[in-house]
Amino acid sequence: MAKTRKNKTKKKRVANKMWGGRFASEPAAIMEKINTSIDFDRHLYRQDIAASKAHAAMLAKQRIIGADDARKIAHGLDTILSEIGSGKFKFKRSLEDIHMNVESRLGELIGSASGRLHTARSRNDQVATDFRLWMRDRIGELDALLAGYQQALAEKALQHAGTVMPGFTHLQSAQPVTFGHHLLAYVEMAARDRGRFADARRRLNDSPLGAAALAGTSFPIDRHMTSGALAFEQPMRNSLDAVSARDFVMETLAAAAIASVHLSRFAEEIVIWTSPLVGLVKLSDKFTTGSSIMPQKRNPDAAELVRAKTGRVIGALDAMLVVMKGLPLAYQKDMQEDKEGTIGALEALALSIDAMTGMVRDMEPDTARMKQAAGMGYATATDLADWLVRTLKMPFREAHHVTGRIVAKAAETDLPLHKLPLAEMKKIEPRITPAVFGVLSVERSVKSRTSFGGTAPKNVRSQAQKWLKTLAKEQGEQRNRP
Ligand code: ARG
Repeated sequence: MAKTRKNKTKKKRVANKMWGGRFASEPAAIMEKINTSIDFDRHLYRQDIAASKAHAAMLAKQRIIGADDARKIAHGLDTILSEIGSGKFKFKRSLEDIHMNVESRLGELIGSASGRLHTARSRNDQVATDFRLWMRDRIGELDALLAGYQQALAEKALQHAGTVMPGFTHLQSAQPVTFGHHLLAYVEMAARDRGRFADARRRLNDSPLGAAALAGTSFPIDRHMTSGALAFEQPMRNSLDAVSARDFVMETLAAAAIASVHLSRFAEEIVIWTSPLVGLVKLSDKFTTGSSIMPQKRNPDAAELVRAKTGRVIGALDAMLVVMKGLPLAYQKDMQEDKEGTIGALEALALSIDAMTGMVRDMEPDTARMKQAAGMGYATATDLADWLVRTLKMPFREAHHVTGRIVAKAAETDLPLHKLPLAEMKKIEPRITPAVFGVLSVERSVKSRTSFGGTAPKNVRSQAQKWLKTLAKEQGEQRNRP
């Protein structure tokens, strides 16, 4: 009887075979529940296995482990990669995270050689390495998605370089612009978003591997070798920093949050434009949904959801900043909270970019309504003031005042500016000639705005073409990359 009890205790001692040596009993169920991260860090399995393979190869080359063991480890890791890829792998919450799930399975596959893999390494440098590699992959995907979004925008912009629409400030009619010009504004924003991601990628692409728990290791490892094998730029110079730094997460999320806000602003415009009260743009059935009670409805759900998903991305950034703000060096378990929100946020962003690209391709402006709306609200008043300055050499402030009085007159009689009789204008400024009517139409207005970056169709056409050329060139370069 006593003997059996003793055996039982013995069994409990190895409850966690990865770190259970000094533990007498198993963790409480709630401990296991709060501690586990496998439900989300399983997303990192490819990176975890790649990093382990690089580490094992380095250990062998440095004669820290035998060549035979290294071969077994590499082979076992390849098997695990395909097991996970094909859905055959059994993830265990009791093994906490991806690192221990993989290592434990490696033990089942190759036996004692597996125990040599974790030499001169800790989960602290391991997780930092995995997450950097994962982030690098995601940034690559987001960049490609943003490029596709830019392409869709630039194509539509070229098609509508001369389509006049109302330009707004304060959501009030301001000056006519072209639809193409409006779309190209988002191409520019996406370009800066891509730039921010590229910057984040450049800074995160240093290798923490080999920093071990926090202090480095006494084994003669070659960190340059693992860094090179994993296509990092260089090993991180300080082991404490290597395991503690999460600014790469915050920085990427900051870039993601800004990109999301850009998409959300555009999504909001689509919601406004497609409202029957406005009616500047139509989305096809592909990007609208109906209402279960109101048969007439065509709701821009995709745009609304893009607008809403911004909350997740900003939330993830916020959460990350809060998690990190009080953490002393080096690794703290708090950092495990870096993954779940980030993974979800970048997924939401990818989906949003995709949905916006689809909507851009799908949307059709109502050109007649746009043109009509462009002239509403005396949107060419600035053109009249500019004409007074140019032709009558009037100071702009005075021209502004004169134009204001002419607009007031037109409003009194409920006429658009170009329909107001010359005689009425002359009552306010006698030197006005019939030539003024040449600048009062919305087409003439946009055509005249040829200043660099202005909305003139000819500018818009050449900018759209420039973007399409740049994007095609980028794509060609990507295809030619080894
Ligand atoms: N699952 C952990 C994380 O994501 C891995 C590192 C654990 N390190 C440790 N010393 N407990 O942060």
